[in-house]
Amino acid sequence: MSVPLLNGSGCLDALTAPGVAAQLDAFVTKTITPESREGNPPVRIAETEAGMLNSIGLQGPGIDAFLTETLPRLAAQRLRVWVSVGGFSASDYADICERLDGRDDVDVVELNLSCPNVDEAPESAAEIVAACRGRTKARLYAKLSPANSDIAESARAVVAAGADGLTLINTLRGMALDPATLKPKLARGFGGYSGPALKPVALACVSACARAVNVPIVGLGGVQSGQDALELIAAGASVVSLGTILFTDPAAPGRIRAELKSEATARGHRDPLEVRGVANS
Ligand SMILES: Cc1cc2nc3c(=O)[nH]c(=O)nc-3n(C[C@H](O)[C@H](O)[C@H](O)COP(=O)(O)O)c2cc1C
Repeated sequence: MSVPLLNGSGCLDALTAPGVAAQLDAFVTKTITPESREGNPPVRIAETEAGMLNSIGLQGPGIDAFLTETLPRLAAQRLRVWVSVGGFSASDYADICERLDGRDDVDVVELNLSCPNVDEAPESAAEIVAACRGRTKARLYAKLSPANSDIAESARAVVAAGADGLTLINTLRGMALDPATLKPKLARGFGGYSGPALKPVALACVSACARAVNVPIVGLGGVQSGQDALELIAAGASVVSLGTILFTDPAAPGRIRAELKSEATARGHRDPLEVRGVANS
């Protein structure tokens, strides 16, 4: 058995980088919304000292074009597909879930309950999960925000509402200034902060949720190496996702899988999952 490796939603386009996607155990799509969206105006990406900021704002084709054009092409690549779903109300999310229900080319539906670049749906995360649960039998993963003041409580609520797993974490809201003008680098002012600086935040969120609920957790946030992946497993993850690292290292999935194996072996474990949760006891 080995630890499944995925990509963070929005951090890989399997259609333009099929060789990277082929190294993963499943491919997570960019968040799909009901209608097509152009996203936010440029500048939408800024580098910072310990990571990057993005304010893409859920750019995408919308569910109709996704189903007719994108999904068949992903299936042709023989990828296991997790579809990330977003919206602006619980019924938006639930409508998309119904469209995805019963499809054998969709492995998991991941509900993006946490995008910092769009105005959030007015309903709570648990209300959105409950609305979706009523409309699909697909495995539902809830992706939660690290900005949540009590993420363990949110985890309990979404699991009680029918989530089968959690993805932790999305980006944190951040801002970068142009050193000369002292104006924000991003057109929208704020963006989602990702990369190495997120790892301690991700570890704390995964650990808190692993103590609170008993469902699979996808650990995501700042992973750059096999050691980082092993730490997320020690905090309670059983799947690991790669985000920002994929922008700089297309070979990261293969490299991190090999590093993870040797980090586990160096500690006397045949399987990295043997360390799952050891940080929490
Ligand atoms: C350019 C970019 C676009 C992203 N788009 C999405 C998205 O559409 N949906 C989503 O749930 N998360 C999105 N994310 C968040 C990532 O999936 C991930 O949760 C986050 O980047 C933390 O992981 P990392 O530190 O390894 O990058 C995006 C991140 C980046 C950098």
